[in-house]
Amino acid sequence: MSLPQIQKAWRATAKGEPSKVLRLDDNVPVPKLNRGEVLIKVQAAALNPVAYKVIMKLIPNFILKKPYIPEHDLAGIVVDANDTEFQDGDEVFGFIPVSAAVKERKGALAQYASISASHIVRRPVNVTPTQAAGIPLAAMTAYQALFDVAHLKPEQHVFINGGSTAVGGFAIQIAKSIGCKVVASASGKNESYVRSLGADEFVDYTTGPLHATLAANPPSQKYHVFLETVGLLETSLYTSSEAYLAPGGIFVSTGPQPKGFDIAGLSRLAWKIFLQPRWLGGTKRTWKLIQVDNKHEDLVKVAEQVADGKIKPLVDSVYNFDDALKAYERIMTGRATGKVVVKVDLETE
Ligand SMILES: NC(=O)c1ccc[n+]([C@@H]2O[C@H](COP(=O)([O-])OP(=O)(O)OC[C@H]3O[C@@H](n4cnc5c(N)ncnc54)[C@H](OP(=O)(O)O)[C@@H]3O)[C@@H](O)[C@H]2O)c1
Repeated sequence: MSLPQIQKAWRATAKGEPSKVLRLDDNVPVPKLNRGEVLIKVQAAALNPVAYKVIMKLIPNFILKKPYIPEHDLAGIVVDANDTEFQDGDEVFGFIPVSAAVKERKGALAQYASISASHIVRRPVNVTPTQAAGIPLAAMTAYQALFDVAHLKPEQHVFINGGSTAVGGFAIQIAKSIGCKVVASASGKNESYVRSLGADEFVDYTTGPLHATLAANPPSQKYHVFLETVGLLETSLYTSSEAYLAPGGIFVSTGPQPKGFDIAGLSRLAWKIFLQPRWLGGTKRTWKLIQVDNKHEDLVKVAEQVADGKIKPLVDSVYNFDDALKAYERIMTGRATGKVVVKVDLETE
């Protein structure tokens, strides 16, 4: 099959918000492959907060040269297997890690993307490319947060703050798949969505400060794991957690997200989490950060759970390639329930 030299791709031309810095360019070179990489004809790409909140907004030009193609998650067809274990024509999904996106200026929001063969797996046939595109980064974050960081065991009790976030939605399904009891929060309008993912109990975080609600109604069996997937900078959920997190229990965060340059907030957080000794009133529970690691064996396990129907895709909305800026508007509302997906190949399911 002869491959084009030139493709259409979204590129960030400066540092800033997607609507100000992203351009759709129809004269972008198709990536050349290094050893161990394959070329994917992208069918669908999914958006992640890290792209618009961190990479586009904060990484200076001397670290990430412009223009570059944004985004990580993709589903597509291998069109140059480049002597890897894949064959041309394999239908795959996976994600370009943040490190490769920044160092090698690789991105998923393009007709063609190069990606390490170790960062993709064959797409299970029970999910379409549009559904599959949104699974890898968020599901692997949930998987690693629960198992690698929190060492979750079957039958344990888990609280998921942000049951309707993409990470939280995958976490509910993964925890339920090993028989855990799951309680999750979201705003009231998302109760049936969160319960449909398997949550046994629901807490509406809008009815009062969540740490106070939980402390006033502690569960008879305190949680073994508290997974914070919203990105709260405010520390009350952690500092009050002795009331609802069991001794030895672990508080895992996907990473507090300051709104702007909040030195005071970050300092408070550092004091509460890392510095304040327990004898000086520090919280007697362990706080840990999950940073997703693109480990092939975890992507394989996630794909197996998708194939088994244990992990169902979470698609909030789908936008055509030319409308990627509308997709960014949607994810930036912070109200999506599941993944915001961009259909790169309009013929794809
Ligand atoms: N560390 C890592 O490796 C890693 C990897 C992936 C993601 N992340 C981070 O994890 C966070 C979640 O990412 P995502 O893509 O899953 O998010 P997302 O899907 O964009 O989250 C949107 C959801 O957040 C919910 N939400 C907003 N405020 C809430 C609150 N105070 N309490 C409970 N739910 C709330 C909204 O529900 P309502 O409308 O009901 O409020 C909405 O459904 C982000 O901060 C992201 O940067 C980190």
